[in-house]
Amino acid sequence: MISLLFLYAYLFIFSTIELSNADTGKAIFLLAGQSNMAGRGGVVNDKWDGYIPPQSSPNTAILRLSADLNWQPATEPLHRDIDYFRACGVGPGMAFANSLLTKDSGIGVIGLVPCAVGGTNISEWVRGGHLYNQMIRRTQAALEGGGTVKGLLWYQGESDTVSREDAESYKRRSERFFDHVRSDLLLPTLPIIQVALASGAGSYVEKVREAQLGMWLVNLRTIDAKGLGLEPDGLHLTTPSQVTLGEMLAQAFPLDRHSPVTSKAARTPYNFMTTFLKLFRVLIFSTLDYPNCFKRQANT
Ligand SMILES: *[C@@H]1O[C@H](CO)[C@@H](O)[C@H](O)[C@H]1NC(C)=O
Repeated sequence: MISLLFLYAYLFIFSTIELSNADTGKAIFLLAGQSNMAGRGGVVNDKWDGYIPPQSSPNTAILRLSADLNWQPATEPLHRDIDYFRACGVGPGMAFANSLLTKDSGIGVIGLVPCAVGGTNISEWVRGGHLYNQMIRRTQAALEGGGTVKGLLWYQGESDTVSREDAESYKRRSERFFDHVRSDLLLPTLPIIQVALASGAGSYVEKVREAQLGMWLVNLRTIDAKGLGLEPDGLHLTTPSQVTLGEMLAQAFPLDRHSPVTSKAARTPYNFMTTFLKLFRVLIFSTLDYPNCFKRQANT
């Protein structure tokens, strides 16, 4: 009788776990930052060459949230109606999503939410500012159709390399930005993958890179774009570089599989449940001969 009770409890817990793990909606990713996230691959003299590499081609399982908040089949340039003052080209988004689908076909439909705008410094992404508000609003709209925000992909900082003061404040400003995004989206351990700069508008690129590579937040991973090929402007990643970057971003996800920087907080419920289940298993087996078990207890 008692065994049966435990068995029911065991099954109940298992079914709740399955339920909470079952992703019924989209796997939503936010793309934010400045031009290299928006995508300038194939753009020369403010004109895009129109070339889309196979790794960045459309897929029925990849959607994009348009500027007017509708889900549509995703195609590069992903930011064409978001970063509309400049010519957009290939960014990392489609290569990221395609690569993620190849790696994990169980992920379901991927919903990309482009939010990056070229030339924007970290101060312009401050909480309450236009870019920040727009990103939060777009994320909330994205969630309305069902789904889970799986991560923020962030590539920014080129504009913060011009003055020493900005470069020196970069770490503090971006940490605060990440904190605010997580708290306003009510996702305290939202996975963030940021890209350490490959280039910059000023001479303090190394200072900003140092800040990025030295950031240790829960569930934050930094991947390094240094060395990836640039367009003739010396600032923007080429199309092949964007494909490589997209694949690097997909490689980094999910964070807890590779990174030593993973959140203890995020793992606690899992460990707790495992321990709990183990305990149940022990109890079930011990209660199989429960008369002895109880006798032994009565003796002590
Ligand atoms: C950031 O960019 C804006 C707009 O270009 C500019 O007004 C502002 O001074 C910049 N802020 C910092 C701290 O560099």
